[in-house]
Amino acid sequence: MLSEGDIYARIGEDGFARLVAAFYAQVPGDEILGPMYPADDLPGSEERLRDFLVGRFGGPRRYEEARGHPRLRMRHMPFKLNQAARDRWVQLMDRALDQAGLPSDAVSLFRQFFHHMATFLMNTPS
Ligand code: HEM
Repeated sequence: MLSEGDIYARIGEDGFARLVAAFYAQVPGDEILGPMYPADDLPGSEERLRDFLVGRFGGPRRYEEARGHPRLRMRHMPFKLNQAARDRWVQLMDRALDQAGLPSDAVSLFRQFFHHMATFLMNTPS
């Protein structure tokens, strides 16, 4: 059975790049998420999420080198992460997972992780 730490070996740098690109392609046109992300630095946002995921799933730890400890709850405090924002983020990521052409065992581990993490990051009820 595939474990989280083996995903990088299984899908490679390119698998993460496809997934995160498919997610961010949907962000600018989204009425909830679009306004939250820096319009002038979407490639930077894409790189931060990609590097975080690569390190989290068994690849090189570039995110920590560049940004330090992730502290994701703290880093999301400036944004209003209510149920609607959480659900939309998960919806766009689920769609990205459908599009990225990744092996199904990796997809199900990612789905679980994203659903759980997005709930954990919520910081306001409404
Ligand atoms: C729940 C809905 C979520 C919303 C609305 C949201 C929104 C955002 C926004 C607006 C940013 C700033 C963009 C930037 O980096 O320039 C950000 C950063 C980030 N998010 Fe999220 N996010 C959500 C969930 C998640 C989840 C589930 C993860 C991890 C799997 C995640 C990982 C990250 C990372 C790694 C950064 C970069 C942090 C940094 O180094 O500054 N986010 N998020």
